[in-house]
Amino acid sequence: MVGVDLRQVDAAELEALKKAFATYGLLIFHEQQLSEQDHIAVAERFGRININRFFESHPAHREIAMVRKEREQLQNIGGGWHTDHSYDADPALGSILVARELPETGGDTLFLNTSDAFDRLSPGFQEMLRGLRAVHSAKHIFGAAAATAAQVDGDRLGNATAADGLADVVHPVVVRHPLSDRPTLYVNPAFTLRFEGWTDLESEPLLRQLYAHISAAPGVCRVRWAPGMVAFWDNRSTWHYAVNDYHGQRREMHRITLDGCALDAA
Ligand code: SIN
Repeated sequence: MVGVDLRQVDAAELEALKKAFATYGLLIFHEQQLSEQDHIAVAERFGRININRFFESHPAHREIAMVRKEREQLQNIGGGWHTDHSYDADPALGSILVARELPETGGDTLFLNTSDAFDRLSPGFQEMLRGLRAVHSAKHIFGAAAATAAQVDGDRLGNATAADGLADVVHPVVVRHPLSDRPTLYVNPAFTLRFEGWTDLESEPLLRQLYAHISAAPGVCRVRWAPGMVAFWDNRSTWHYAVNDYHGQRREMHRITLDGCALDAA
């Protein structure tokens, strides 16, 4: 979005932004100058802030999750297709990411739309998927076993106890998007384990097929960050992928995630 200063949005503009968010699932704001306080204030205008349980938080603002890769690290956060917080019973509405320190080259983020992905399937396949539900979990990513592996690389993911204590959840594979009403595919390679009532082995081929279909989206959006840029994405209708192609350089992003709601079948 050009010409929007997120610190100065009036009520009519806020409604227009919410409408655009429901339609597109991704809003990009250029040349913003948000302090950490501004970031929190902007987020609160769109929803209730979810305090992240697994990422290191900003030292002065627990509302802000640090998405950071140091020069010596090899792993990054979000370096594969995923959507945030699908492991929650009420999955997150969206996330607002602010670019704070960027590598000279690389460090882009890719986005695609999973409502569009549903529309690209045949009616018969759509109908079959509507009958399925899938199990999502945080343990294999943020739990003790995963945290040990990440710490070897100096990664900043933490709070394994919280992840291991979080019960797995089940969501419909095709959800009715709470804002757009569109049927939307709601599985992702990071947090979806299997279809409800199916084994991992039975689930894997169909999940792999769905992931291949979704990630072959004709309209993948590549965000090339500039300092101060802000992305606001919908976690129900998009996937994102933080490209990890900048080893030896530092990247720091600040993320606020907003509470969502239970997702109904479409
Ligand atoms: C994330 O997955 O939330 C991080 C995205 C990014 O760092 O670009």
